[in-house]
Amino acid sequence: MMMIMDVGSLIAVVALGLVSLSFWWFILRVRCHKKTSSGLPPPPEIPGLPVLGNLLQLKEKKPYRTFTKWAEKYGPVYSIKTGSTKLVVLNSNDAAKEAMVTRFSSISTRKLSNAIKILTNDKNIVAMTDYGEFHKMVKRHILTSTLGPNAQKRHRVHRDTMMNIISEQLQYYVKKDPNGAVNLRQLFQRELFGLALKQVLGKEVESLYVEELGTTLSRQEILEILVIEPMKGAIEVDWRDFLPYLKWIPNRTFKINIQRMYFRRQSVMTALIKEQKERISRGEEINCYLDYLLNEAKSLSEQQVLMLLWEAIIESSDTTLVTTEWAMYELAKDPQRQDRLYQDIRNVCGNEKVAEEKLCELPYLSAVFHETLRKYSPAPIVPLRYVHEDTEVGGYHIPAGTEIAINIFGCNMDKKQWENPEDWKPERFIDDKYDLMDLHKTMAFGAGKRVCAGALQAILISCTAIGRLVQEFEWSLHHGEQDNVDTLGLTTHKLHPMKAKIKPRN
Ligand code: HEM
Repeated sequence: MMMIMDVGSLIAVVALGLVSLSFWWFILRVRCHKKTSSGLPPPPEIPGLPVLGNLLQLKEKKPYRTFTKWAEKYGPVYSIKTGSTKLVVLNSNDAAKEAMVTRFSSISTRKLSNAIKILTNDKNIVAMTDYGEFHKMVKRHILTSTLGPNAQKRHRVHRDTMMNIISEQLQYYVKKDPNGAVNLRQLFQRELFGLALKQVLGKEVESLYVEELGTTLSRQEILEILVIEPMKGAIEVDWRDFLPYLKWIPNRTFKINIQRMYFRRQSVMTALIKEQKERISRGEEINCYLDYLLNEAKSLSEQQVLMLLWEAIIESSDTTLVTTEWAMYELAKDPQRQDRLYQDIRNVCGNEKVAEEKLCELPYLSAVFHETLRKYSPAPIVPLRYVHEDTEVGGYHIPAGTEIAINIFGCNMDKKQWENPEDWKPERFIDDKYDLMDLHKTMAFGAGKRVCAGALQAILISCTAIGRLVQEFEWSLHHGEQDNVDTLGLTTHKLHPMKAKIKPRN
């Protein structure tokens, strides 16, 4: 009886609380619709619940799709509430560019989720740090040593080796089992990870003894710890992100999970760096990011160096894979377009293998790559930006303290910009009515001062890979693969790896 009484009064208190919250929420909404100090109106608000705001409408982990649906009803710029945080969502090219370029000086910082804050050691990587002196310095380092045009020329040999290994492995698979299905992701991910290790540490690693973990890890286990686990960790939700005034309530499962990832990543990176420092002390210098940072960036702490090296490994190993796999999925599904690409390659390359210097002569290949970026942007939402001084976007007033989500996926599904945006149609980039600049219209690499540092590497690897895979094999989807298009994760991985049948062309 006592128990029932308690529950009854609890319900009454909660109900009263909700009624009064709803009242204040209503008053606030009405106030928000008034003009602001700048004279501009605030963006329209998506109706939600008191306290939780729109959180329950975003339960599934694909907010970019929900944002896009809302844009159809409420227009390209609107605001939502994720708990106590106000988030303005931008779904049009004009608004996105305005935020990334014209208004950048007011929107150049980030507020990170608890998971990303821990995993990035509190903004200690290029992609997550606030814009400022540190950002400029570390971006310069990664471009000079690894990702800029001259550095990419120096690392060319690693990319060519990688492509030859992938091609040989595929030949081997078909010989062994001509009717079997190949899992391109598994092979490509392994080799891309190897390339990242060579660029970053100077050497590939087949196994590694990690003192803190008391065990020897295989290359696959190292990949899991450095890339796959943190990618999953980055989208772990800590409900305290949305209700920071409740941060005093512990969230043990979340904390244990992320701290375990952090510890394992830290231990593996420390062991990898130790091995390479021993190499350097033997007098063996290699052209790689680690050697560069030790020589040229003496002001950085050991932990900062570790974080920057890890960043280059994780970023090299994921997004390029996502794009290449989706492109091959679309081509395997579409024999006519695959044939068009094959004929183009034959005309330009003859019996020579597709190589980087031929890419500029293969506009259809470039169109395939950019159309894949458009339909399957690996980063569908640009990492959230934070408004640190009052500003405006799309003709709306955006007060300091607001977060900004640039929904690249939404921009690329905008019917005003793209004809039948749901269709994968590379021709849209080469038909007469489009011009070359349209390639940048997808904004898949971001824009402005925070534009992706690895765009050149991603283009070189992905385009050469797609070109060679189509030049050397005929691709078709394995039975049942047609509708297998769901996505997963921080970057839009195909939910299930593509299973394809391949037939050598010669
Ligand atoms: C298809 C492949 C890729 C796509 C679509 C992509 C996309 C993006 C996007 C959208 C951003 C955020 C821009 C912003 O915050 O405004 C970004 C930043 C960044 N990306 Fe990429 N990326 C790709 C490949 C790579 C690769 C291969 C690397 C390096 C190994 C890389 C390194 C970086 C870095 C360092 C930043 C931070 C730049 C800054 O904050 O100034 N990316 N990328």
